[in-house]
Amino acid sequence: VTVLIDIGTLATCPPDAAAQGEIGLIERAALVWDDAGAIVWAGPEAGVPAAYADFPRESARGGLVVPGLVDCHTHLAFGGDRAGEFVARLRGADYLAQARQGGGIAATMRATRAATEDELLDGARSRLAAMLALGVTTVEAKTGYGLSLDAELKTLRVYEHLAADVPQRIVPTLLAAHTVPPEFADDRAAYVRLVCETIIPAAAGRAVFCDAFVEVGAFTADEAERVFAAGRSHGMTPKLHADQLSDTGGAALAARVGAASADHLEYVSEAGIAALAAAGTVAVSLPIATLVLGQEPLPARRLLDAGVPVAVATDFNPGSAPSLDLHLALWLACTRQRMTPAEALAAATSAAARALGLAGVVGSLVPGARADWVVLDAPDVDRWLYDFRPGRVRRVVISGRTVWPGP
Ligand code: NIG
Ligand code: FE
Repeated sequence: VTVLIDIGTLATCPPDAAAQGEIGLIERAALVWDDAGAIVWAGPEAGVPAAYADFPRESARGGLVVPGLVDCHTHLAFGGDRAGEFVARLRGADYLAQARQGGGIAATMRATRAATEDELLDGARSRLAAMLALGVTTVEAKTGYGLSLDAELKTLRVYEHLAADVPQRIVPTLLAAHTVPPEFADDRAAYVRLVCETIIPAAAGRAVFCDAFVEVGAFTADEAERVFAAGRSHGMTPKLHADQLSDTGGAALAARVGAASADHLEYVSEAGIAALAAAGTVAVSLPIATLVLGQEPLPARRLLDAGVPVAVATDFNPGSAPSLDLHLALWLACTRQRMTPAEALAAATSAAARALGLAGVVGSLVPGARADWVVLDAPDVDRWLYDFRPGRVRRVVISGRTVWPGP
C-alpha cells in the first residue's frame, strides 16, 4: 500500500456522477492504492484511515491530481503522412474532393499497405510516448487504413505488440469499414461481404470494438448494420463514425445497435440526440477534426442537457486530425463547444472510459479502479484548462507505478 499526500486538489471523476460537471473535487486530499495497482481509498488528507498510517507516503507537492487521461478515439497506426494534402487545402483544395480524387483515406491506405509491421510499430510507439508525457494512460486505437485482410491484421498485430510493451492500456478497434478500397469500387457489396465473412472472423479475439464510417461516400446505415451484426457475433461491440459530414441518421443507428459510442456528430439531429439519451450511448466529440475541417462544433450543450454523456478525444489521424494533443482537444471543447473545464475533464476520463466499456476501471479514482493518475502543475481544474500551456504535467502513474518522467 502507498499513500499520496499533499494533493492541492483531487478530481476523482466518479463513474456514476449525476451530471457530467460533478467531478468529485476534494481539496487537500490523499489517495491510497495497493500493491496490485488498484485504488483503495480517496478523500481528505485529514481523514486517511488509521489502517494506512504506517505505509510509505509520497507527496504531490500541492499539485492537481486527476485520473490518467483516456483518449477513446484514435487512428494510431498508419503509414506515411498527408502534409501535402494539408497544404493543398490551405491553398483552397477541399477534403472531400481530395478523397474523391484518390487521396484522403485511400492515400493513407496505400502507405499503410506498403509499410512493414516494424515501420508501423515505430510510428505508433513514438506517438504513444508523446501521449504519455501528456498524461494519456489509456488509448483506443483503430485499424482502417489497411482495408484488406492482410493489412487490417497487420495493424492489429502492431496494437498487440504495443499493448505488451508500452505502459499504456491499448484498446484495439477494427475499422475495416472505413471506406470501400479502390479495388472494390465497382462491387462495394463484395467488400462488405469480405469485412463480414473474412476480416471480422479473423479479427475475433483481437479487437474489442467494431467501428464503421457511416457517411455519404463511405458506408450506408444498412451496410454498417451488417458489419455490426457480424462484429457482435464475433464478440465486438459496435462504435460509429456518425453524422460527421452530413446527417445520415448515424446517432439513431448507434442507439439502435447498442453502440458503446457515437463519434463526431457535428450534424447530429434533435431526434439523434433523443435516441442517444434514451439508449445511454456516449457521444464522442472530436474537436480537433472539427477545427481542421472548418466545421461548426457539435452541440455539446444540447447533448449534455439531454443527459447524453459527452466524451472528448483527439481522433488522431493523418488527415482530419493530425494532432495527438488531448489537452488541445479539451481546450477546444471549452472554447468552441462551451463545455466547462470540469465537464471537459470528465469527458477525457470517466465519460471516455464509459465509451470504451471501462467505466469504474480507468478514468476514475474510486476504490477498485486502476491507480492511473496524473499530477498537473495547476491549483485547480479551471486554472488548468483555461490557460492552455505546455509543460503542466509533472508526473504520470499507471497501476501505481511512475511511468513518466522516466528514471
Ligand atoms: O475520424 N471520418 C473518417 N475517418 C477519419 C479521418 C480519416 C482521414 O482523413 O484519414 C476521422 O475523421
Ligand atoms: Fe476517427
